[in-house]
Order: sequence, then C-alpha cells, then structure tokens
Amino acid sequence: MTTPLPKLTLNNGVQFPNLGYGTGLLTDAEQLKKCLAVAIESGYRNIDTAQMYANEHIIGEFLDENIKSGKLKREDVFITTKLAFFYHQPEEAEKSIEESLRKLKTDYIDCFLIHWPSPLKPAPEPGTSFQDYFAKLAKGEVEFDLTPHIETWKVLEKFYKQGVFKAIGISNFNEKQIQDLYEKAEIKPQNLQRGIAVVPKSGNLERIRSNQQVFDFELTNEEMEKFKGIKGEKKIFDLEILKNHPYYPF
Ligand SMILES: NC(=O)c1ccc[n+]([C@@H]2O[C@H](COP(=O)([O-])OP(=O)(O)OC[C@H]3O[C@@H](n4cnc5c(N)ncnc54)[C@H](OP(=O)(O)O)[C@@H]3O)[C@@H](O)[C@H]2O)c1
Repeated sequence: MTTPLPKLTLNNGVQFPNLGYGTGLLTDAEQLKKCLAVAIESGYRNIDTAQMYANEHIIGEFLDENIKSGKLKREDVFITTKLAFFYHQPEEAEKSIEESLRKLKTDYIDCFLIHWPSPLKPAPEPGTSFQDYFAKLAKGEVEFDLTPHIETWKVLEKFYKQGVFKAIGISNFNEKQIQDLYEKAEIKPQNLQRGIAVVPKSGNLERIRSNQQVFDFELTNEEMEKFKGIKGEKKIFDLEILKNHPYYPF
C-alpha cells in the first residue's frame, strides 16, 4: 500500500506534491519507462523534467500509454518542466514551449520554470547533447544571451493566462534576480526550488521505492543535532562553466 504524499499549496492555490520523481540524466527510453512505472506504482504523482534533460518525449509516451490504457488520468500527475538556457529569446521560448507540449503529449503543464538565469545563444541543432553544447561554450563557439529575464517571463505569463501553464516559476535565480523579476512581473514567480519540495532522482527500481518511504519516520533529537552539526555550505550543482556570464547567479 502506498502512503498518500503531502502537498504544498502555491500562492495561486495550485497543489504541488512535495515529493517528486526527478528524471535528470535518465534518457534511455526503456529504463525511464520502467522507472516511471515503479514511481507511479509507489505513489509518486509529481514528475520533474526539463527541456535540457532530453527526456520529455519519453515521459510523454509513458503518460500517453498509461492514460490510453486507463491506468492513469492526466490530472493524476503533476508535471514540471523547465525552459532551457538557449531558448530565452521570446520567439525561441514560445517555439520551445510548443515543442515541450508536443513531446509531453499534453495540452497543459502543471508547472513551468525558467531553468537557469544565465542564457546562451545560439540554440543548438536538434539532437545536440548538452555536454556537446557546453563543449562548444568552452571553445567560445556559444555566446552569452543578455535577453532580460522579464522578456522571457512575459512568454510564461502569456501561457499561464491561456491556462496552458497552471503555475510558473524560476530556478537557480539569486535573491537579487528574484527580487528584480518579482517587481517587474505581472504574475509573480513561484519560487519552488527554494521551497521544501524534493525530487530525488534514481534509475534504480528499489531506490525509487525506498525514496518514497520518507514520511513514515522521523529523525530523533540526537540525529537532528548531528545533522545541524555538519559544517560548511556547498552548492553541488553550480554550473561553474557559466561563471563569467553577467547573469551568473552564484
Ligand atoms: N532545477 C535545477 O536546476 C535542478 C538541478 C539539479 C537537479 N534537479 C532535479 O532534481 C533531481 C535530483 O537531482 P540530484 O542532483 O539530487 O540527483 P543526481 O545527483 O543526479 O542523482 C541522485 C544520485 O543519488 C543516487 N540515489 C538516489 N536514491 C538513492 C538512495 N536511496 N540511496 C543511495 N543513492 C541514491 C542516484 O543513483 P541511482 O540512480 O543509481 O539510484 C544518483 O546517483 C534531478 O533529476 C532533477 O529532476 C533540478
């Protein structure tokens, strides 16, 4: 039996299941579909993907197959996806969003985020892996794109107003960038990545199951004290390759 998972309520009333299944680096269709099946069976109802993860089409196929066979309804699953670095220019953003909807085989996305605040241009040829794209960046073949965040944000607002996005937000933005966008935005960003929601990634079926079993135990006071005693702060995913970008957040 699966434990019903708690949810966060976003500032527009949308309910965000605060344990999601993270799909970064999972690009093998057969493996990811098996993992998604186990995640859904175990009770996850929140799938975290991104244009950069190059797996939206696999998730779309999985959902379509399960919806058609009656195992799932679209509204049972909360989908988050994110705008890639290289689609910040409004026209590019719009095209890429249409592409995400097509790949995910859905007419709405529960939550759409700007993935990173440091855009690049030009967009890669279809099929280019992001490792190859960053290799080009290292060779100076990719430029910094200085499209102001608000210009990209307006595209997200347009889809939000049409009901295509149920919630919109940002990730990896620093405090100043968040404040700046907050002041200029008509629809205020929902800054999920700083909330308490987590999206553990595992490509291992047993670990997908065990990562879901986190709401039926508590750490003891002694364990909490040890936890607080861990010294130092370290950001693991800081994308240092972008550190010279004028919009680098860290
Ligand atoms: N917004 C952003 O910019 C951003 C950035 C980073 C991540 N994310 C999201 O967050 C998700 C998780 O990211 P992450 O950086 O934390 O993941 P990660 O480092 O890519 O993957 C988690 C690692 O922990 C292992 N693992 C998972 N469960 C485990 C368990 N119970 N015991 C031992 N090892 C375990 C996994 O191995 P196995 O696969 O072999 O289990 C994997 O090596 C991503 O998939 C993505 O959806 C978003």
